Amino acid sequence: MTHSGPKIPLEARKSAALSGRVRVPGDKSISHRALILGALSLGQTRISGLLEGEDVLNTAGAMRALGATVERLGEGEWSVRGVGVAGFAEPDAPLDFGNSGTGCRLAMGAVAGSPIKATFDGDSSLRSRPMRRILDPLEQMGVRTWDSAEGGRLPLTIQGARDPIPIVYRTPVASAQIKSAVLLAGLSAPGTTTVIEKEWSRDHTELMLRHFGAEVTSEPEGAHGRRIVLTGQPELRGAPVRVPADPSSAAFPMVAALLVPDSEIVFTDVMTNPLRTGLITTLREMGARIDEMSRTDDAGEPMAEFRVRSSQLRGIEVPPERAPSMIDEYLILAVAASFAEGTTTMRGLQELRVKESDRLAATLAMLRANGVRAEIVGDDMIVEGRGHVPGGGLVATHMDHRIAMSALMMGLASDAPVKVDDTAFIATSFPDFVPMMRKLGAEFA
Ligand code: S3P
Repeated sequence: MTHSGPKIPLEARKSAALSGRVRVPGDKSISHRALILGALSLGQTRISGLLEGEDVLNTAGAMRALGATVERLGEGEWSVRGVGVAGFAEPDAPLDFGNSGTGCRLAMGAVAGSPIKATFDGDSSLRSRPMRRILDPLEQMGVRTWDSAEGGRLPLTIQGARDPIPIVYRTPVASAQIKSAVLLAGLSAPGTTTVIEKEWSRDHTELMLRHFGAEVTSEPEGAHGRRIVLTGQPELRGAPVRVPADPSSAAFPMVAALLVPDSEIVFTDVMTNPLRTGLITTLREMGARIDEMSRTDDAGEPMAEFRVRSSQLRGIEVPPERAPSMIDEYLILAVAASFAEGTTTMRGLQELRVKESDRLAATLAMLRANGVRAEIVGDDMIVEGRGHVPGGGLVATHMDHRIAMSALMMGLASDAPVKVDDTAFIATSFPDFVPMMRKLGAEFA
């Protein structure tokens, strides 16, 4: 499912107070993992609240092509009957992951433990993203790379290992995708597979592996890091998964509620795994009124209801060690920082250069096109907030859903409207974004 259709431009205008109660779609990270682990398990996995965005639907298609039975039973209700660890069948055609780095990289890890050959491909954004970071550990485990575009990029073909070698792997960058790929490959390996990360990245794979019956331990390592040890060759058993609402999707209307005067929005079922809530911590430090109303736990993932009210924000310094817990949220944080009083400095953002687009460059362009003073110094982004944003700019999406949503949120509170050249990619993660925002009071034209 790769976009080739016409661009869908949209303009966001200064809106009256936003209000309402919403459940944003299911978490993207959990949705990919539920499908992949379901496919690697024996028996049935029932998933409710699955994100039915293009990225996740591509992962569902890939799991089907690898031999799992994946069925949609109703809205967000899915059933996966898996093939068991190391049980994937060789797919007849290349696996197309569209725009999704997570789907592609996690599936590479999952395929690495089955003795089959599979080709991975995606859209031009995904084809430009680094895959060597996944191939390096997988090759150490015995995977053979047959063919790849320059620099190990897509399209690429790998041959999984019959008996992967269990390794101890230190991830070169804080990345849950690298960690997850190694752990998923390690499922087929005898003995223990260890991943050591200098900074603790989201732990959904570890939590869900345990939920499906694997033995995984996780201990602190150094100041901010983690050592994760998986015992190989478990018998994974299908298990129910209820997908909480995605905090990375809630981030957009949350910031809009802060910026548009007199707004109040309640968000239900938002996942509050502490490795995902860096934005909420940061916004609160900036003076945001975000109240946690109630909290529940499900399958190891906590969730809560939040009330967000418009707030006067102030600039702050965001430390680099917070980056893994809000890596997808810097674009919308930069929008919030533009409306704050004072300077916000966000440090340690090097990984933003290799997301769906170069998000450092794209964020800077988005801000400057709308009259905000900002700069990038090394790996840091500095935004000079002046309490209001002139707006009036045209923002280039670069095939990146989060740029489109961030720019639209900016336009709801800026002096002049903000235009986005293409909103089509929003469907990768948040298919109902535009109608949901309109219901809350957003003015789009
Ligand atoms: C994700 C991990 C992050 C994040 C992505 C989802 C995941 O990527 O940016 O949107 O579900 O594991 P990295 O692990 O490459 O930082």
